[in-house]
Amino acid sequence: MEQTFIMIKPDGVQRGLVGEIIGRFEKKGFTLKGLKFITVDRAFAERHYADLSAKPFFNGLVEYIISGPIVAMVWEGKNVVTTGRKIIGATNPADSAPGTIRGDYAIDIGRNVIHGSDAVESARKEIALWFPEGIAEWSSSLNPWIYE
Ligand code: GTP
Ligand code: MG
Repeated sequence: MEQTFIMIKPDGVQRGLVGEIIGRFEKKGFTLKGLKFITVDRAFAERHYADLSAKPFFNGLVEYIISGPIVAMVWEGKNVVTTGRKIIGATNPADSAPGTIRGDYAIDIGRNVIHGSDAVESARKEIALWFPEGIAEWSSSLNPWIYE
């Protein structure tokens, strides 16, 4: 089954949105396969966002990600990468639809609360980076009530 890497960024933790965000993925029917509450250092944040290293906002983005603890998660389900991005909403909260996480809880692009992998291949790389120890092996007994 498809998996994606989801991170509640430091602002999401500070603002008390952890339960709300996890609840949205749970209630959708996705399965939580990995979760940890950690603060990452600069080198790690730079690896996670390596593709953006040439962007003018890169240093500010890294400072933001290392500014406090984050919640790193792996979620599993059919089309979870694409659907997870829809649940999260557009990168710039000014453009995120109401009902999405960023549309409901964020204002500035540099404080947009949550990260989600943008493709199956980047999800695979991000899960390997953030969870080198592996993730839980289980499947929800609710799946026959979620999948036809
Ligand atoms: P992530 O899920 O965090 O990867 O966001 P995304 O895939 O929607 O956007 P992208 O990967 O292009 O950018 C990563 C993060 O960099 C965004 O979530 C923002 O926090 C930040 N970012 C992107 N563009 C800008 C920008 O123009 N200005 C600032 N300040 N931050 C930006
Ligand atoms: Mg991205």
